[in-house]
Amino acid sequence: MHIRNLISPSFLLLLSFPISATATTPRPPYPNRTLAGITMIDTPIVRDAQAYARRYCSDSTYNHIMRSWLLGLLHLSHDPALASKIDLEVHALGLILHDLATNHSLSAPFVTPNRRFEVDSAIAAADFIRSHPDGEKWPEWRVQRVWDGIALHAEPGLALYKEADVFAIYWGNELEFSWERPGGERKGVTAEERERVLQEFPRPTLEEGGRGNVFAFVAWYCKYKPESTYNTWMQPFGELLVPGYSAVGHRVVDGSLAAVGLNMSEILK
Ligand SMILES: *[C@@H]1O[C@H](CO)[C@@H](O)[C@H](O)[C@H]1NC(C)=O
Ligand SMILES: *[C@@H]1O[C@H](CO)[C@@H](O)[C@H](O)[C@H]1NC(C)=O
Ligand SMILES: *[C@@H]1O[C@H](CO)[C@@H](O)[C@H](O)[C@H]1NC(C)=O
Repeated sequence: MHIRNLISPSFLLLLSFPISATATTPRPPYPNRTLAGITMIDTPIVRDAQAYARRYCSDSTYNHIMRSWLLGLLHLSHDPALASKIDLEVHALGLILHDLATNHSLSAPFVTPNRRFEVDSAIAAADFIRSHPDGEKWPEWRVQRVWDGIALHAEPGLALYKEADVFAIYWGNELEFSWERPGGERKGVTAEERERVLQEFPRPTLEEGGRGNVFAFVAWYCKYKPESTYNTWMQPFGELLVPGYSAVGHRVVDGSLAAVGLNMSEILK
């Protein structure tokens, strides 16, 4: 830009707006804190998101979301190219708020009878941001990134092809599971780093339902919110675990069959 343009009236007008009026990705030096040896962004909205999750999530879910955030940050520390593209507040909120609607009660806040829990959580997170004194200044695209990251956090077929923030939110949660899966992805996170995270936010022991957690978690949706599970990754869990569960009549293929007037029972005869 030529120096004369720099002092044009429109440039001066731009300068006269306080930066805080248009909240965007924080630029250093933003506040940090350190947990489990990991440095994380510590702006008011990130702090308030943790308090919000603490209020609406069970102890074990709260520990899970905090581990997901910390593992996500470790992933970024091992991938500077990815880290350079990340909006740390979007990343933090996407992970901290990703399970807001996981209370296993149909009368709990944010939980609807029919929507996927990922969508209920994404909507709750967006509402939290829009009603927060700093979040209400966020441009819509940042809210959208958080929404997408949460809605797609269990959909690698979509999340891995989205923006870096959505990609990294997916991995923060997924590392909880994939790190210990035989041959599973670790994204550079070492055993020692992960151990520090587990020390800070322990997982339930086997006696407390530890490893069965995921199955019990998903079975609840298949049993009590079946509509939210048809044609999703949850459907096979319902077929395996929940007596009487059947997606037949609700699957995409059923609609396609009906559209062309085919009856599968008769084709197979
Ligand atoms: C917080 O950490 C970031 C990234 O490490 C750094 O750029 C920033 O300056 C730190 N903030 C303060 C107040 O030191
Ligand atoms: C889950 O929802 C029920 C019903 O609204 C409520 O009593 C319970 O406290 C909630 N649990 C948590 C962890 O918020
Ligand atoms: C499909 O065929 C079976 C067996 O003939 C029959 O019982 C069923 O009612 C048919 N379903 C529809 C939607 O026509």
